[in-house]
Amino acid sequence: MLAFVFCGFSERGTDKHPGKTMLKNTERSWGAVSRALHWLLALAILGLLAYGWWMNHVPARADRFFHRSIHANIGYLVLLLMVLRVIWVVVNPKPALPAGTPKWERVLAHANQGLLYVLTIVVAMLGWAHSGAHKPTYADWFGLFRVPQFTSQNRAASRFYENWHIYLAYALLALIVLHVAAALYHRFVKKDGMLERMVDGRAQ
Ligand code: HEM
Ligand code: HEM
Repeated sequence: MLAFVFCGFSERGTDKHPGKTMLKNTERSWGAVSRALHWLLALAILGLLAYGWWMNHVPARADRFFHRSIHANIGYLVLLLMVLRVIWVVVNPKPALPAGTPKWERVLAHANQGLLYVLTIVVAMLGWAHSGAHKPTYADWFGLFRVPQFTSQNRAASRFYENWHIYLAYALLALIVLHVAAALYHRFVKKDGMLERMVDGRAQ
């Protein structure tokens, strides 16, 4: 997938360097790193939401620890990639919205994107807090090493973190639905190239 994003996705280059793969963003286009992180994390987060629901409601109770461990292990990776993404956002320009975008749309877009960052990190941190408070913990990373835990085992705390992990995971899903609806609105109603610039890095 990464090779797809870095090579195939980037053929068009950017406004300043047509035809060249640009890693960094410009004032008008998303670089390959931002696009790779966006699509990889979109896939992983949607996957964790679907798998999280499935593992808690469908398999036999005895199998749930196994599935919850896989969910947690992918969740740790998402958290790590989110931290790298925040660093990348801080050191890169953010491509501007099209000229003439109304103020309310700018405010809504920024608020929604900011909340997507905050909620993803908070949901993952609550999952991690729940893991440390739960007996047994979900600390064994695919049998390779132990992920340090920052909470200690406590039944009431474990329940509290679990509940908030789940409530906020569904709040995150609601924000994603809004975000995807906005992307489709830009693609099919406004036809202003916003979806395309996140797919192939073209300048908008
Ligand atoms: C952004 C990342 C994450 C998302 C979107 C997410 C989403 C979810 C969802 C939707 C559920 C099930 C909700 C339901 O019961 O209907 C769930 C449960 C769970 N998650 Fe996550 N999760 C994430 C990260 C993590 C992390 C990092 C851990 C642990 C380190 C974790 C541990 C768990 C556990 C143990 C459960 C089962 C809780 C229970 O016993 O009911 N999750 N998660
Ligand atoms: C799968 C369906 C998705 C589509 C079609 C989509 C589409 C887009 C588009 C077109 C942009 C660029 C907006 C611009 O150019 O200003 C964008 C940015 C963004 N998207 Fe998505 N997105 C999807 C899923 C997600 C998910 C699941 C998340 C995370 C929870 C997410 C988080 C973000 C964030 C934070 C930005 C701001 C740019 C950045 O910092 O990377 N998206 N999305």
